Amino acid sequence: MGSHGMLARRAVQTETPIMVLIQEVIRGAKDALSLAQGVVYWQPPKRALDKVKELVWEPSVSRYGADEGLPELREALVRKLRQENSLHKSSVTAFVNLVLTLCDAGDSVVMFAPYYFNAYMSFQMTGVTNILVGPGNPKTLHPDEDWLEKTLRETKPTPKLVTVVNPGNPSGTYIPLPLLKRISDLCRDAGCWLVVDNTYEYFMYDGLKHSCVEGNHIVNIFSFSKAYGMMGWRVGYIAYPTEVEGFGALLLKIQDNIPICAAIISQRLALYSLEAGPKWVTEQVKDLVKNRAIVLEALSPLGDDAVKGGEGAIYLWAKLPDKCVDDYEVIRWLATKHGVVVIPGSACGCPGHLRISFGGLLEDDCRVAAARLRKGLEELVRDGMVH
Ligand SMILES: Cc1ncc(COP(=O)(O)O)c(C=O)c1O
Repeated sequence: MGSHGMLARRAVQTETPIMVLIQEVIRGAKDALSLAQGVVYWQPPKRALDKVKELVWEPSVSRYGADEGLPELREALVRKLRQENSLHKSSVTAFVNLVLTLCDAGDSVVMFAPYYFNAYMSFQMTGVTNILVGPGNPKTLHPDEDWLEKTLRETKPTPKLVTVVNPGNPSGTYIPLPLLKRISDLCRDAGCWLVVDNTYEYFMYDGLKHSCVEGNHIVNIFSFSKAYGMMGWRVGYIAYPTEVEGFGALLLKIQDNIPICAAIISQRLALYSLEAGPKWVTEQVKDLVKNRAIVLEALSPLGDDAVKGGEGAIYLWAKLPDKCVDDYEVIRWLATKHGVVVIPGSACGCPGHLRISFGGLLEDDCRVAAARLRKGLEELVRDGMVH
């Protein structure tokens, strides 16, 4: 007979996915509106969707495809990486799990708080339990470069990998290029990998411009999910250094044992979406500043200093009043009493905070959700969590 004790410790000791918990909270609250999940409200480009509609009867769609991705898609992505990201010495592969390629069980890795919860879980699941979480600058939330320098110098053996999200999830903070370069130099000099997650590369506001760094110690991660409204189609890709011997072959070992290939129809949609290109994406993204302003206003009861981030991505990051120690309790209360759902900062390594997503609702719904949030926060600050 099976028992809990017989389950893999690696999986048991991995955090519970916050989104699973949040989905329960949403189901348990009547008519709640979600400012929780990191999603966008748009669908993929219409022409791209129309094209894939024609494809379901094509035999190749139902077969296995190349592990590294459709050749046409990879070619298009190499062009995109050159033109848009100035990445010239990187190879590309449609990919699922990088941590397995770069880390061994027992390695240590570095992240910065507040961190992206799924990256944290990917490490835990791989047996990387020594996750060093560095502080962010209290004002800007930028990764603390001096802490990183000291940590890479003093930790023995040297951490295997440093990872940042730019612009950030959960904070929406943009890492300016000089800081990204300094982080990259520190990693290169210490002999560790730098993994930069560029999932929100197009989600930049107020004239800020996203940039990538390239080097033989750097891997850049990208996703079709948010930019092209393709969350459910599951296509992402990485740019890895061509010159590192054996890297591509190792990636294929992992890929061949997890998804084998990204769904062929999804890769076709990705290819056709690239035809719509960055202009199409920017057109969708530009209206999000309205949602950001609406949510920002709703957070005002917490005080100006409490709210940070939002220069990019689809998130704002807010500190709860000191008396709110249990942020899980706060998000349950906001859901059941006020009908609005957000993410507790604890899931990102920062108890006493909230992550608020402004990407998933059309403006009118966003206004309704924000009004609920404002009312809830006013009450929280004034009276505490009265049921
Ligand atoms: C920073 C970051 N990286 C990666 C992902 C994963 O996106 P996907 O698996 O849909 O490509 C997300 C999604 O929320 C994200 O926020």
